[in-house]
Amino acid sequence: MISFLKKLFGKKELPEKTETEKSKPMTDEHPADHPLTLEQKILVQESWEKVKPISDTAAELFYGKLFELDPELKPMFANSDMKEQGKKLMIMIGTAVKGLDTLGELVPAVQKLGARHVGYGVKESHYETVGAALLDTLEKGLGDDFTSEAKEAWTITYTTLAGVMIEASDYKAA
Ligand code: HEM
Repeated sequence: MISFLKKLFGKKELPEKTETEKSKPMTDEHPADHPLTLEQKILVQESWEKVKPISDTAAELFYGKLFELDPELKPMFANSDMKEQGKKLMIMIGTAVKGLDTLGELVPAVQKLGARHVGYGVKESHYETVGAALLDTLEKGLGDDFTSEAKEAWTITYTTLAGVMIEASDYKAA
């Protein structure tokens, strides 16, 4: 797990792999396969349904918060159509939310997305800022529906996606 994400979200450590698990033969399973309990999946999927009808506003809120948290990120989007960009982001999150039962299947696509982000100038630390902007957006968009349980479930969802993207970006080697 990526340490800054744990720090950011104050999450409990994921259980360390036991020696037996470590020595298990490689399977097609990716650690991102089953990050959420059934209850948490339902929470994320239900709250996403409520965000979908307001996705334009949500995208606006998201980028507003992102640039408030780190104005230096603005030039990265200088040539972007922010409406289009917002749509792409919402579609990508929507895809992940829909596929929460089979996140592992999305891993290759998310890895490629992460690698493309290196080309956009994205640094590892930016994932923390984007995560904070996303949670803030959900809080504003969902109001009372964004319970602490929903926040935790969303945190795991984002952390898992970001973790796969970061892993595929090879930042440590950079
Ligand atoms: C889980 C995290 C993230 C997801 C799901 C996500 C999703 C996407 C998607 C779907 C695109 C469209 C282009 C493509 O598919 O390659 C994109 C582009 C982009 N993203 Fe992300 N992203 C994430 C994190 C970040 C972070 C941390 C940054 C840093 C500020 C960032 C900055 C950008 C930029 C600069 C572009 C290109 C904009 C353009 O070409 O107009 N993204 N992102």
